[in-house]
Amino acid sequence: MKTKLLIPATVVMLAILGSLQVMSATEVDKKLIDRGRYLVATAGCNDCHTAGYPQADGKIPESEWLMGNPVGFQGLWGTTYPPNLRIFMSGLSEQQWMQQARNPRRPPMPWFMLRDMTDEDLRAIYQYVRTLKPTGNAAPAYVAPGETVNTPYIEFYPKNLHVTAQVVQ
Ligand code: HEC
Repeated sequence: MKTKLLIPATVVMLAILGSLQVMSATEVDKKLIDRGRYLVATAGCNDCHTAGYPQADGKIPESEWLMGNPVGFQGLWGTTYPPNLRIFMSGLSEQQWMQQARNPRRPPMPWFMLRDMTDEDLRAIYQYVRTLKPTGNAAPAYVAPGETVNTPYIEFYPKNLHVTAQVVQ
């Protein structure tokens, strides 16, 4: 008699525990996505990967974030363009992202910021970017030093290196 009652009770308990687990998984996902949004906003990704972001004091709607930038950065490394991260991430599994996220990139991408992030923070950025639709255009391709550039670009050349830096009072 006792065992007969125990079995349904155990089944009910397991069902409740199971549904709790599903709930907490979604909670964790939401927390991770919120953290990713926070990291993208505060670690400077929009400065370069969202067109017009610095000029607008960061007041660009989230629906336009991380779609890349057709304005290049030119320096001794050639001319680079911040890629559309929505399209980039949509082509990667989380595992592939984790394998590539810390790879060196050309300037002025601060790739060492990603290198020094925890796995959890890198996962958060991935999960957040994956919530954005993979829309927009791909950024122009990298142009090697000395080759013709057909887009607007910003120059990053060191000047006055012979002058000793002094603290201005
Ligand atoms: C100062 C400008 C700048 C900032 C800030 C910046 N990026 Fe970049 N990022 C670039 C440029 C330029 C490239 C292209 C580099 C190249 O051609 O090798 C790039 C490349 C990348 C790539 C490689 C994509 C691909 O197609 O291979 C990833 C991923 C990336 N950035 C993520 C981020 C994230 C995440 C942040 C914020 C933590 C960030 N970037 C901040 C300029 C920037």
